[in-house]
Amino acid sequence: MDSPLQAWRDTLEELGVMGFVREPMAAAPEPPLPAAAPRPVAAPRPTVRPAPAPSVAYTPPTDPMGCPTPEIVAAATTLLELEQAIRGCLACPLGPNRLKFVFGEGDPRARLMFVGEGPGRDEDLQGRPFVGKAGELLDKMIGAIGLKREETYIANVVKCRPPDNRTPSPDEARTCLGYLRRQIELIQPAVIVTLGATPLRELVGVSEGITRVRGQWKRVRIGDRDIPVMPTFHPAYVLRQYTQDVRRAVWEDLKAAKEWVDKAEGA
Ligand code: URA
Repeated sequence: MDSPLQAWRDTLEELGVMGFVREPMAAAPEPPLPAAAPRPVAAPRPTVRPAPAPSVAYTPPTDPMGCPTPEIVAAATTLLELEQAIRGCLACPLGPNRLKFVFGEGDPRARLMFVGEGPGRDEDLQGRPFVGKAGELLDKMIGAIGLKREETYIANVVKCRPPDNRTPSPDEARTCLGYLRRQIELIQPAVIVTLGATPLRELVGVSEGITRVRGQWKRVRIGDRDIPVMPTFHPAYVLRQYTQDVRRAVWEDLKAAKEWVDKAEGA
């Protein structure tokens, strides 16, 4: 079981106040998207904790199965082809330690896509995203907006479990990001919901604290499309901070995302 200290560290991490701060990526332009009133729950704190660096330098393999090139990734024209191309990936130190590669799952034509941080223990065991306690809550959150999990698509920034469920390092995230971007390009969701600080920082390039920025539309350019992004809290954080304010915040964020999906569909 997690120690109280670890639980508290996890909480701070989910708040985005202990994650590694990296150079912001190209600033995402403010999108012409519906305004969703942010409801700050608590002021974020500036303390940061870098993800522990591996003690010995990791040398990735050079073969295309162990280290799929951007060309190989771009050549995949279906999710199945992409998964086959990358599931043997050993390009970062997370690869050799995984039990299962967690590609992601859901409707390949989903309009709503969720992006989390990375597999935890349950996901590593099962090879599926969000199947532990946080996943149970995510399923409920999806149900609360009138959808089933399988009608959405769920993926993570990194596809292999970071040791001790730590935040993926910027290098690990960057190594895996091309896979997620190609996945999104193939799915073409109308809206992406980022869960917690890590996918917002690594995929969208927004490093502000999740508490401050949740509920505010962002966007990410994937291929030739700008995709609206709704940042919200990670379900694991919601489980730890099971207050009415936090739950209402997530509900409002998901509702806004669903409304945008319906609008994009002309529903
Ligand atoms: N947390 C994540 O960010 N992703 C998962 O798949 C499970 C837990």
